Amino acid sequence: MNKKLKLETLLMHFGEERKAYEGAVVPPIFQNSLFTFENWEAIDEAFEDRTRHYIYSRGKNPTVSIVEQKIAKMAGGEKAQLFPSGMGAISAAVLHCIKAGDHVVAIKNIYGPANNLLQRYLTQKMNIEVTLVAGDSVEDFAAALRPNTRLIYLESPSSAVFGLQDIQAVAQLARDRNIRTIIDNTWATPIFQKPLALGIDLEVHSCSKYIGGHSDIVAGVVIGRETDIDAIATQEYQWLGAKTAPFEAWLILRSLRTLPIRMRQHQENAMKIARFLETHPKVKSVRYPGLESFPQYALGQQQMSGYSGLMSFQLVTDNLEEIKTFFNGLQVFQIGVSWGGHESLIYAPAISYLKELSPEQFGGMGISLGDMRISVGLEDADDLIEDLQAALQKIS
Ligand SMILES: Cc1ncc(COP(=O)(O)O)c(C=O)c1O
Repeated sequence: MNKKLKLETLLMHFGEERKAYEGAVVPPIFQNSLFTFENWEAIDEAFEDRTRHYIYSRGKNPTVSIVEQKIAKMAGGEKAQLFPSGMGAISAAVLHCIKAGDHVVAIKNIYGPANNLLQRYLTQKMNIEVTLVAGDSVEDFAAALRPNTRLIYLESPSSAVFGLQDIQAVAQLARDRNIRTIIDNTWATPIFQKPLALGIDLEVHSCSKYIGGHSDIVAGVVIGRETDIDAIATQEYQWLGAKTAPFEAWLILRSLRTLPIRMRQHQENAMKIARFLETHPKVKSVRYPGLESFPQYALGQQQMSGYSGLMSFQLVTDNLEEIKTFFNGLQVFQIGVSWGGHESLIYAPAISYLKELSPEQFGGMGISLGDMRISVGLEDADDLIEDLQAALQKIS
C-alpha cells in the first residue's frame, strides 16, 4: 500500500487482504483453533518460522494479525502483539525485559495493578528490586539507577495525577546504559503521542480504553521492534498462554477505524469541560495536561500532539457528605472505574485508594478526598457541562 497514505486512510485499509476473503469490506472473524496443511512439506515449512505462519490460534490468528499490523503501523513500531488485557500486555513486556535479581525504576504514580506487579509480585517471585521515583525530571531517574538496573517503566501522562515524564530524555539516559524502557501510552494513544519515535523500546496500551473506545472489550497491546515482539509472541504470549480472542480482536478492528475522529472529539469536549471547571467557584483546581495552567504544559506541548478526555478536578469542599452529594447528583456522567469509552464517567480515586492505602500513603500520592476523576465521552459537551453545573449547584 502507498507509503504516503495518512493515518486515517491506513486505519481503514492497511493489513486487510480483501481478495482473500471474497472482497468482504469487513474481514471475517477467524474463529478457529487450528489451521490445516496440504502435506508434510507444508506443515514442516510452517514450523520453520512460527512467527509468520498460522498453525494454532494460541500463537497466530489472522483476525488478531490484521489488528496487530494496523496498531504497529499507527504507532510507528515494527510489530505489535495483542493481549487479552492491558495488564497481560504490561506483564509480558516487563517479564521480557528483566530476569531474577534485576533492578527496575518506575514512576510512583503508575497504574495500581502495574505497581502491584512490580512491588508485590516480582519482588517476591523473582527477587526484583524496585525504586519508585516522582519522574518529573530526568535527574530523578539518573539518581535512582544502580549497576543492576535493567528497566525503566514510564506512564506519561500517568493515569492518577497526569504527571508527565520527558520521554526523549529518559529514553536517551536508558539507551546510553543499555537499560530497556517501557511506556504505558494508554492516556494519549498513538494518535497524540509516539514514544517509539522518541527512543522508547516498548509501548504498551490497555485497549480497554480509547483504542477499544466502546466499553465492550478488555484487551491490551505491546508494540516495538520485530526482535522484541517476536520474542514476546513466542515466550510470554504463547508459553504463558495469554491468547487474544479473535472476536475481541475484530471489535478492536472496528474501533480503530474511528480512533482518530473519536480522539479529536474527546479532546474538543474535554477542553471545553476543563475550561468550564477551571473557572467554577466550587472547584479548587483542575488537572488536565491540555490546560495552559497545567504545571508541565510546556513538556506536553513538546511531546504530545493532542490531549485525550481523562482529567481530574478537586472540589473546594472537603466535607465527605457534600462530596457525595455532588458525585451522586450527576445524571449524564455515569459512575464507573474505567475510562476512554464513548460514555462520560466519574470516579473518586479516594473510594479505592482509601481501602488499600493508609491515610499517609494516600496523602503522599498527591490525591485528596475531594478529587474527582472524569472521563469525558462523546456526548454533547454542553449537556455534560450542564450536568456538572447542576450537580455543583447542589453543594454549598
Ligand atoms: C493506565 C492504565 N494502564 C493499564 C491498565 C490495565 O488495562 P486492562 O484493564 O485492560 O488490563 C489500565 C486500566 O485501567 C490503565 O488505566
